[in-house]
Amino acid sequence: MQLHTLLSTALLASPLAVSAAGTLGFAVGNTNADGSCKKQSDFEADFKAIQSNTDAKIVRTYSASDQYANPCNTPSQILPAAKSAGIQVLLGMWPDGGAYQKEKAAIDAANPTQYGDTLYGITVGSEGMYRGTYNANDLVGWVKDMKNSYPGVSIGSADSWNCWANGTMDSIINSVDLILANGFAYWQYQDISNATKTYFDDMAQALGHVQEVTGSLDKIHFMNGETGWPGTGGTDAGAAKAGDDNMKTYWQSAVCGLLDWGVDLFWFEAFDEPSKPDAIGDNGQKASEKYWGSFTSDRTPKFDMRC
Ligand SMILES: *[C@@H]1O[C@H](CO)[C@@H](O)[C@H](O)[C@H]1NC(C)=O
Ligand SMILES: *[C@@H]1O[C@H](CO)[C@@H](O)[C@H](O)[C@H]1NC(C)=O
Repeated sequence: MQLHTLLSTALLASPLAVSAAGTLGFAVGNTNADGSCKKQSDFEADFKAIQSNTDAKIVRTYSASDQYANPCNTPSQILPAAKSAGIQVLLGMWPDGGAYQKEKAAIDAANPTQYGDTLYGITVGSEGMYRGTYNANDLVGWVKDMKNSYPGVSIGSADSWNCWANGTMDSIINSVDLILANGFAYWQYQDISNATKTYFDDMAQALGHVQEVTGSLDKIHFMNGETGWPGTGGTDAGAAKAGDDNMKTYWQSAVCGLLDWGVDLFWFEAFDEPSKPDAIGDNGQKASEKYWGSFTSDRTPKFDMRC
């Protein structure tokens, strides 16, 4: 298949241009296990756990102001913690429901460029096109606005792999510096034995389409924005069975595999979130999102995360 050929070419080329292995990152929530907003000291403890148990170099967040709970002002708390830990941050903005200006104000309040290289970039939106909570015009406008306000900072957007692959994101692709394509074999109801194949196929389709639209193998920085597998206590999705053993298998095969291929990725997520409300899955059933951490909420690793 052409898409696979493109991917192989890109990945064969990338080790020469950059480094051989992809960069590991973690998605981190902005609330503690009791639901309170994480402060600088909470993020410091997060980074200590991540850095002493994994090879991760970067973390990403989702909401700057957190419009669902009390204002967490996450950028102002996480950036100083990351600077002292020596880890980079990809700051997320959650612009759904008219929150763009509020989210931007929370970014501005942190004066993020004062942290230099600690600020890896800023993403506007996470799967909002997939959910239909904003449209392509909104997203392109917000990305342009952020680029004007933060020249020299990488601005990106995250969405489901199939939206990047099937044309939904075509008008966004050439506006952003960073493309984060999320892919979960779990949400495609795959048995663990076929999960890595599905994940690789998802990423190949998304990256292949981005390469076609840009006419380049590496003009835009492509990352896997999220992948993961629910641990013990989580919900099954068809043949995809939750459990710490399957999470570990998926990590060793899918995560270590994609990193080996030279693609950057974010694991969703670092820490269990026992106070997170249930989500409605693609199958319309209630699904727990509490136990996706590769660490428990008290920051104990569930398995060996070195590749
Ligand atoms: C692209 O994929 C998304 C997610 O599955 C779907 O909602 C959308 O309808 C698809 N669009 C096209 C043009 O196929
Ligand atoms: C395994 O994954 C591939 C790639 O996504 C898919 O085409 C195939 O249908 C899957 N096999 C099974 C048995 O579900």
